[in-house]
Amino acid sequence: MPFTIIRNDITKVKADAIVNAANNTLLGGGGVDGAIHRAAGAELLKECKTLGGCETGQAKITKGYKMPCKYIIHTVGPIWRGGGNNEEKLLYSCYEKSLKLAKEYGCESVAFPLISSGVYRYPKDQALQVATSAINDFLAENDMDVTMVVFDKNAVMVSEKLLDSVQKYIDDNYAEERNDYYRRSRLMFDDFPKLKSFKSVEMDEALEFDSFEDRCMLFDELDESFSQALLRMIDERNYTDAQVYKKANIDRRLFSKIRSDVNYKPKKQTAVAFVIALELDINEARELLEKAGYTLSNSIKFDVIIKYFIENKIYDVYKINETLFAFDQMLIGV
Ligand code: APR
Repeated sequence: MPFTIIRNDITKVKADAIVNAANNTLLGGGGVDGAIHRAAGAELLKECKTLGGCETGQAKITKGYKMPCKYIIHTVGPIWRGGGNNEEKLLYSCYEKSLKLAKEYGCESVAFPLISSGVYRYPKDQALQVATSAINDFLAENDMDVTMVVFDKNAVMVSEKLLDSVQKYIDDNYAEERNDYYRRSRLMFDDFPKLKSFKSVEMDEALEFDSFEDRCMLFDELDESFSQALLRMIDERNYTDAQVYKKANIDRRLFSKIRSDVNYKPKKQTAVAFVIALELDINEARELLEKAGYTLSNSIKFDVIIKYFIENKIYDVYKINETLFAFDQMLIGV
């Protein structure tokens, strides 16, 4: 997945490059800086002393030493002074310059802390917004696995308003479906050999078919594989493949696997990522997910959150992943 968010101690994360939230001297400090210097060992400080410091918004690179990475990229975030001192531009530049360095040194994966959101007091939700926008802009033009490593869950500060709205939607729908679940039935049309999977329908709906042919016609449609349906929907919307897999936060190599294997069975979080990238409505979403054998059920919290975003037409994978992360759910993408 090109961009993901995890909760961990960044000194434990394996990546080609780990980014350090340093200060202008590059001679170590507290927080992430202190943790990385402790984990990397004294050799790191020795090399840092040769770098002559670093300006705010810029980045410099050293070896990884005892850390589980080839390189450590030191960048200096802005101290938050209320937002009127170019803080956003400087913070964006930290990510931009670090990613550029990682690319120059041939890194395929890089892990960031939430720069400036600790000692430098940058409000966490705004710091995350700047980070995702800089990373998103880079990934629009480049292939790399980028991980945002947050130290504690409340560091992923999705806006309170969005969190409350999603929580209310879960409370309303999640509970309701549990009663509704027993009303719905799943039918296996075992007298229709063409059917490759269950199709869960309302009992009355199932009996509305007025002929065997109608039902088979439905199954002809069901014969279209996930891959075929996906490519059809991309063409119908005049998107390019790259536009869709980038927006879906899907790795290019995975997309070419799906494109070349007509029977490819994606993971649910991958199939959902394409639903979001194609900006499907709830019926189109069900149609595409069913081709991969999935549905969106209100008895699964992940599904309920996805339905919230589809029904509110919010097709931003990064925002959805930050929300899923805040609710301890799996992220969408590969
Ligand atoms: N792994 C991942 N994230 C961490 C870790 C860790 N081991 N330790 C702290 N964090 C998180 C903090 O919770 C915060 O969200 O990293 C984010 C950045 O916090 P700081 O490390 O305080 O960095 P910053 O706010 O950029 O301030 C930089 O602090 O440590 C000094 O020398 C450093 O002067 C510089 C200043």
